[in-house]
Amino acid sequence: MEKKRLISGITSTGKMTLGNYLGAMQQFVELQDEFEMMVFVANLHAIVLPIEAKVLKENIKSMVALYFACGLDPNKATVFLQSDVLEVTNLAWILSCNSTIGELERMTQFKDKSTKVRADNGTNFIPTGLLTYPTLMAADILLYDAQAVPVGKDQKQHIELTRNLAERLNNKFGEMFTIPEPIIRENGAKIMDLQDPTKKMSKSSTNPKSYIGLLDDLKQVESKIKAAVTDSENIVKFDVENKPGVSNLMTIYSCITKKTNSQIEEEFKGKNYGDFKAAIAKVVIKLLQKIQDKYQELFNSQQVEDWLEQGALKARTIAARKLQKVEWKVGLKYKK
Ligand code: AMP
Ligand code: TRP
Repeated sequence: MEKKRLISGITSTGKMTLGNYLGAMQQFVELQDEFEMMVFVANLHAIVLPIEAKVLKENIKSMVALYFACGLDPNKATVFLQSDVLEVTNLAWILSCNSTIGELERMTQFKDKSTKVRADNGTNFIPTGLLTYPTLMAADILLYDAQAVPVGKDQKQHIELTRNLAERLNNKFGEMFTIPEPIIRENGAKIMDLQDPTKKMSKSSTNPKSYIGLLDDLKQVESKIKAAVTDSENIVKFDVENKPGVSNLMTIYSCITKKTNSQIEEEFKGKNYGDFKAAIAKVVIKLLQKIQDKYQELFNSQQVEDWLEQGALKARTIAARKLQKVEWKVGLKYKK
């Protein structure tokens, strides 16, 4: 039986965080044995808000090396750069023409980000790309006939839209797209900000204490975990509502050690938050040490460039065939 094809990407807007790793990357690595994984660096999505060219280049290079350092195997997974496949923007245009401004404006990520742009800059200049971001994301998925998309919870609405667009075009022009399913893991789907555990841990945060970067200095990682906001109860118990800080730290610990919440509660019974945080710091540092060692080895290697070229070639072959079919069905091409 053919393996199911999965696709996912991470935007190259900043430093990769422990949230990205536990919510996305760790899953990609775990899934690459069972499925045909396609994973890309979403550099086109990274320019929807202003970003310096130099910073973007650094982010991309670092992310590619991190993908492999985290365990993606170039012989199993197809790893590539989103903009290396020109077909994707062509399909995104076709999808934009079949979506409405209303449905794009209803995306919570658009609402949040456009509100933030207004608040930060005091202007009303919202880039068009921020609105059409989900149609490009839908193109990323539909172009490769992906059957499933492993993402964090925050991307669920974008996958829903992708499914709607695929069905809409299939109905209008005849079967051409596979309807993708989201894969959202329960535990670790949303790692929260260490300083404000009601917010998602994000690489665009301005307070470095809020997040753990995969390439952070390990001494700093330890102090960030020690400084993480908890509460005054000194009881390790999973209760997102009343103990969001402790619950978030438990989630991090659980994702890395694979222990359940009740096992963790048992482990820290009668102990204080100091002991609890020390244990978390230990497993996080061990994980990051391993990733960072591999990263150092790969960062400037030609091998990474070769793997990326090999990934792009494979992705382009699939994409070209698909786009041809779509253009024919939609009527853009008159010769088969
Ligand atoms: P982004 O950094 O927004 O491009 O997200 C890339 C991937 O990481 C997506 O699948 C996100 O859902 C996931 N992700 C980002 N931040 C977190 C977080 N704090 N917790 C869990 N998953 C996350
Ligand atoms: N929008 C996703 C994010 O920020 C990244 C992304 C772009 C993506 N295209 C995708 C994820 C296609 C899955 C499939 O997290």
